[in-house]
Amino acid sequence: ECALPSESRFDCARDRALSREECEERGCCYAPLTQSISSGPPWCFYPPSYPGYSMGPLSPTSRGQAATLTRSVPSYLPREVSTLRLEVMLETENRLHLTLKDPTSPRYEVPLSETHPGSSSEGQEPLYILQFLPSPFGFTVQRRSSGRVLLNTTVAPLLFADQYLQLSTSLPSGLISGLGEHYTPISLDLNWTSITLWNHDVAPHSDLNLYGSHPFYLVQEDDGKAHGVFLLNSNAMEVVLQPTPALTWISTGGVLDLYVFLGPDPQDVVRQYHEVIGFPMMPPYWALGFHLCRWGYTTTNATRDVVHRMRSAGFPLDAQWNDIDYADGRKVFTFDPQRFADLPAMVNEFHREGLKYVLILDPGISSTAPPGSYPPFDEGLQRGVFIRNSTGQLLIGKVWPGLTAFPDFTNPETRSWWEDNIRAFHDRVPFDGLWIDMNEPASFVSGSVEGCPDTDLENPPFVPGIIGRHLNSGTLCMSAQQNLSSHYNVHNLYGLTEASATHSALVKVRRSRPFVLSRSSYPGLGRFSGHWTGDVQSDWDQLRYSVPAVLLFGLYGIPLVGADVCGFGGDTTEELCVRWTQLGAFYPFMRNHNDKPNASQEPFVFSPQAQDAMRRAILLRYSLLPLLYTLFHHAHVSASTVARPLFLEFPSDPNCQTIDRQFLWGDSLLISPVLEQGMTELAAYLPPGIWYSLHNVRNTSRRALQNKGQYLLLPAPLDTINVHLRAGHIIPQQEPALTTGASRTNPFLLTVALSAEGGAWGELFWDDGDSLDTYEKKDFSFIVFSAGQDKVVSEPLMVNRALDGLLLGRVRIFGVLSAPQEVQANGEQVKDIVYHSDTKVSSLTGSCLHVWQPFIIQWI
Ligand code: NOJ
Repeated sequence: ECALPSESRFDCARDRALSREECEERGCCYAPLTQSISSGPPWCFYPPSYPGYSMGPLSPTSRGQAATLTRSVPSYLPREVSTLRLEVMLETENRLHLTLKDPTSPRYEVPLSETHPGSSSEGQEPLYILQFLPSPFGFTVQRRSSGRVLLNTTVAPLLFADQYLQLSTSLPSGLISGLGEHYTPISLDLNWTSITLWNHDVAPHSDLNLYGSHPFYLVQEDDGKAHGVFLLNSNAMEVVLQPTPALTWISTGGVLDLYVFLGPDPQDVVRQYHEVIGFPMMPPYWALGFHLCRWGYTTTNATRDVVHRMRSAGFPLDAQWNDIDYADGRKVFTFDPQRFADLPAMVNEFHREGLKYVLILDPGISSTAPPGSYPPFDEGLQRGVFIRNSTGQLLIGKVWPGLTAFPDFTNPETRSWWEDNIRAFHDRVPFDGLWIDMNEPASFVSGSVEGCPDTDLENPPFVPGIIGRHLNSGTLCMSAQQNLSSHYNVHNLYGLTEASATHSALVKVRRSRPFVLSRSSYPGLGRFSGHWTGDVQSDWDQLRYSVPAVLLFGLYGIPLVGADVCGFGGDTTEELCVRWTQLGAFYPFMRNHNDKPNASQEPFVFSPQAQDAMRRAILLRYSLLPLLYTLFHHAHVSASTVARPLFLEFPSDPNCQTIDRQFLWGDSLLISPVLEQGMTELAAYLPPGIWYSLHNVRNTSRRALQNKGQYLLLPAPLDTINVHLRAGHIIPQQEPALTTGASRTNPFLLTVALSAEGGAWGELFWDDGDSLDTYEKKDFSFIVFSAGQDKVVSEPLMVNRALDGLLLGRVRIFGVLSAPQEVQANGEQVKDIVYHSDTKVSSLTGSCLHVWQPFIIQWI
């Protein structure tokens, strides 16, 4: 019974280390190993015969089938739920949904209404086969086409008690990604890794639970296929990975609500997941520009000064930000009457210069201002918007302004109070976007200034290995009361609910597309907000791990994401900041942000050479924004990813499975940044095919890399980031300017990368960049470009006013094998043609075509 191979052991003592007697008292096996108990296989583990639930007959329900599970032999857990209702919903041919709940007393459930309710297409056979083992209860999910077992929960007992829910499964391969937010590579380590999900304010560091929780994983099945699993539960969780490979979910509350997505491609898995949690919002165009911030712009004049220095140094800048420096006594919805006295005037000036302005908005509301002097608190109190402690009194914690109360965003009244405050503040300071920080929520005292009562919510029988070891460490009491449930249940939703309230307030107040940036996250955040990866250190390791962080947030449905360019904590160096700016130019969200005590790191403080390199990178980004915007459109309407891991695009190429130092924009641009100090060459993986360098290089062998899928050594001098365009693709670009407002009026450029067969294809989504719901209201333009061996064709499928006056300034075609003799655009001869016989690039300028016009450019 107990003679299991050590890697197949499932831990019977996640809550604490047990002695032999205590372990055996639980009915488990005890067999010590030489390896430490904390880093390897468990010493106390379940025997295969450990009693579980027995399943009754399945009966049909309106949504699928249901059965009753009963446990006749109790486990060791307090307040066990011995009767469970299993519901099985075969929602679509690729989505399976199982829930396990207490049929007699309702428990807290995450209020997620699926954005794309499932409906099976008639006659379609599911991609999965679901089978049950009645006693002890377990189930398996197999991929019908390959027979591969994707989940098998019979490997360890199912446990369901009031504050401890556990479900284990085997995994079909060790290639697992997800379960954020953590400081990890894109593929997780299965060697007895414990991953905890509990939103916490802490600078990124390995093994720590960071700002967000995403109970979703994607497994690559080794043959190009993939599946995903989402456990819809917002309680504190631990996920244990072990080398068999297998995984155990342990949650401290709620219900087991499990979705399985069958893909079969990894991209399909991501889309199927987003169909449940919601597709990402469409950002305003300016949000894709360069943002500049720091903690420590202590006056309006200091803020103006950086803007002017950016301008005089010729750096693009779309949005200038202020951190908590602007607020009077750090109280939100106020501004300092001395240092920021002319804040409204400053914002108006910025607007006149074509800039946007974003400010920070922390959730904590100062509770100590004299009554009558701070309406956000007085009115909030009156309207009952704040979180209360277990005895119904205001819960007071501590954040930047000192003592604070915390709005309960699960209360509809709070949402309207928040909107009123945003409106009143916006009437004074016409900001364009809001940065919602500290919303895990973070507090500098644990629980509350009065501590927390000693209850099962504060001290549950099991606490995952989180920072501070107590659930209320650095946040609120678990017994605090919110409209939806106790903070114990809804803690991980704080940022999500705040983002939702902020987004909807901005829609109503500004009547144009909102920009919200949130630190805390949970599935569904991407519908309302972008995300940055928090307080990253200015070092090479953090630069390197920002790549998987950004890619993973794409899988989580939050494509508008980036790390603080040049790093937040500690002084940056010139070289690091150059490399970070180059990589940051390809973060979907690009902001340089710095901590208060640090040396300045705005681009203009560096040497002329460093500035040139940074300027080049940011201008390159600006030239590519029509492509980036088009990718965001696809994320918004069909849940495709923007910054994309290579394995998503090349699922059958084993070389791509774990690559997370390079990534793609959509399916066409390959970005290979330098992530190490002192490097001027780079070993980059080029998937099979032809890849054209986007930079001007003088010979074909550097311009067009034709390969079978291999690592190549690429030159990467300090002024260059390697970017390659995939043959067969056409990307829309635009002459860059110093703001997106100005670049959006510049002539377009089409870059065409012909495939070996001489074809290529691309698209442009375009609208006014700022109005609400342009796609939904059909107020946009959409153009499809295609190319053959001797022509490029533009076919506008939808045209609206947003394209008025825009010209196509240049077309550059990679892979034209011989010099064109004559080129015609819509039947008229084009004069300005340059052909480089060495690089096989043909470039036409001054074609005078309008972007909204259908056109055909032909050459002979
Ligand atoms: C913590 C945030 O992560 C950081 O970006 C910000 O500068 C500080 N709070 C101060 O507001």
